[in-house]
Amino acid sequence: MSESTIESILQEKRVFPPSAEFSQNAQIKSLEDYQKLYDKASSDPEKFWAELAESELHWFQKWDDVLDWQPPFAKWFVNGKINISYNCLDRHLTTWRKNKAALIWEGEPGDSRTLTYAQLHREVCQFANALKELGVQKGDRVGVYMPMIPEAAVAMLACARIGAVHSVVFGGFSAEALRDRLIDGQAKLVVTADGGWRKDAIVPLKVQVDKALADTTVTTVEKVLVVKRTGQETEMEPGRDHWWHDMQSSVSPDCPAEPMESEDMLFVLYTSGSTGKPKGVVHTTGGYNLYTHMTTKWIFDLNDTDVYWCTADVGWITGHSYIVYGPLSNGATTVMYEGAPRSSNPGCFWDVIEKYGVTVFYTAPTAIRAFIKMGEQLPNARNLSSLRLLGTVGEPINPEAWMWYHRVIGGERCPIVDTWWQTETGGIMITPLPGAIATKPGSATRPFPGIIADIVDLEGNTVPENEGGYLAVRYPWPGMMRTVYGDPDRFRRTYWEHIPPKDGKYTYFAGDGARKDEDGYFWVMGRVDDVLNVAGHRLGTMEVESALVSHPAVAEAAVVGKPDELKGEEVVAFVTLEGTYQASEELSKELKKHVVNEIGAIARPGEIRFTDSLPKTRSGKIMRRLLRSLAAGEEVTGDTSTLEDRSVLDKLREGA
Ligand code: PRX
Repeated sequence: MSESTIESILQEKRVFPPSAEFSQNAQIKSLEDYQKLYDKASSDPEKFWAELAESELHWFQKWDDVLDWQPPFAKWFVNGKINISYNCLDRHLTTWRKNKAALIWEGEPGDSRTLTYAQLHREVCQFANALKELGVQKGDRVGVYMPMIPEAAVAMLACARIGAVHSVVFGGFSAEALRDRLIDGQAKLVVTADGGWRKDAIVPLKVQVDKALADTTVTTVEKVLVVKRTGQETEMEPGRDHWWHDMQSSVSPDCPAEPMESEDMLFVLYTSGSTGKPKGVVHTTGGYNLYTHMTTKWIFDLNDTDVYWCTADVGWITGHSYIVYGPLSNGATTVMYEGAPRSSNPGCFWDVIEKYGVTVFYTAPTAIRAFIKMGEQLPNARNLSSLRLLGTVGEPINPEAWMWYHRVIGGERCPIVDTWWQTETGGIMITPLPGAIATKPGSATRPFPGIIADIVDLEGNTVPENEGGYLAVRYPWPGMMRTVYGDPDRFRRTYWEHIPPKDGKYTYFAGDGARKDEDGYFWVMGRVDDVLNVAGHRLGTMEVESALVSHPAVAEAAVVGKPDELKGEEVVAFVTLEGTYQASEELSKELKKHVVNEIGAIARPGEIRFTDSLPKTRSGKIMRRLLRSLAAGEEVTGDTSTLEDRSVLDKLREGA
């Protein structure tokens, strides 16, 4: 975050209570009701969650124990049997919701489709049978590399139905990144499409899959299922590749949901950390189902007349929890949009809201900042009066953007839920409940009932009010990640040992810096580790550095974030070159392209700075703090006495 953003967040004093009308109709109607729920949940979390699990979800068999906590490993609803696809689909079919719109989809070239709960159920059952026919069994991993089309949700729900573990890889990741994730997860099958639309162009997804699977000595993938989306020429490898529509038409639409153990793995989703390659975050069935269900219900305040739209991609956790599982488990109508605002159609989001009468809208601060730039005339030219609740996620929202969202999009009548959470937490952790908690621009406000959040120092002591510290969670919750796929030790080290356990009590370390104000409101400032947040996308500096040094010209690379008005942060790479290579504009372009090939367009460095050497300590550690200041064009302040060679700093300054 830039200094000015931090400054404006620190100065922020405005408070926006919900209207009486909103509160009256809300699920949680007052601060007292929230406080009661919060206190009840904190005094006996197991009882709190068990009561909700019982009343809100369908179980094939009730659990024996609510929580088995062997820190840092949790099991929720032990021996309970459940299926999230059943909870998202089947149970609505015996109600009037059978013919309610489950999924409203708007395609990029202007096509659209609505699937009722009955229709979605049928598609999911067929697809589940197709997976079985291709040899997928309970416990097998299935890669999903898809555009934002209904089939992506169908594939996820079909996996869940038969107990296969989905591993969705964002369609914007490169073939290399896809390959790494498929190998780590040892996927047996990949679901993809011939292509997907991205900002007026077609991304050849199937070609990327072919590249990712080219090295047959490392791939475990046996089958590829391809949805025909764009209709372009597509090579199909006989025996391995199958068209989705061929399979769908040849299988039965009857596929009962498999009763799963509550702790059976539901999905793996890769996310960036401060060290090493991206890690596979493991989520399991029962706890995740309950947590996404409850957070969706109380935070988005859904009722049966709502049309709910979350603009995320299903390739991220937000898409998993709040496009697919949370809304469908609640029997809501969820909107899915294939497109994105672009110069040829800058008002497309507002068109979608107007067209479908969206009532609850959930997006990212980076998108809001882009809209501010595009101008008020675009939303003002549409009828947005259907909106009643707004949400944001992914990064801290600066108060100016919050106010614009409130005024221009929300017409000053819609509460804004600024939701803090992570891939690891499964669902939203700190957020206003919109009818109960008055909002302050830039604050995610209060923890969700059952979440014992705290601001601590590195010893785990709670820091005083309004002092900065590390965001932490003191007790397990049902939606928490269970482990890192194939690496339980990394799970322990990364999340549970940063803050040393005390008297057998473990504290979850989120990797974010934050403070809590005099009203108990949380203000999240951003990552405190080497993780960047570029346009709401999480990127490890080390990932980008590895991509850079895999280019023959690069000897060493150090990547830092530079505050960016639109994207929050931008990637700046400091690079030293191998002997014979010369710095040039050409090489800079080539290196940027190389990073895109290795990871994807989201990681493209905004700037490459060539240098003779990098500032290091005497023990050889790169001093990123200095590089961050240099990248931001700020004066390098603080202690530089540990710098091995002070002339490096002067040269870097001159270079800039
Ligand atoms: O730094 C926090 C930021 O996004 C990180 C989690 O990224 P990811 O796992 O990709 O999940 C994003 C969507 C849940 C967090 O560690 N973050 C997310 N939401 C907020 C936020 N920072 C401030 N305010 C938020 N509302």
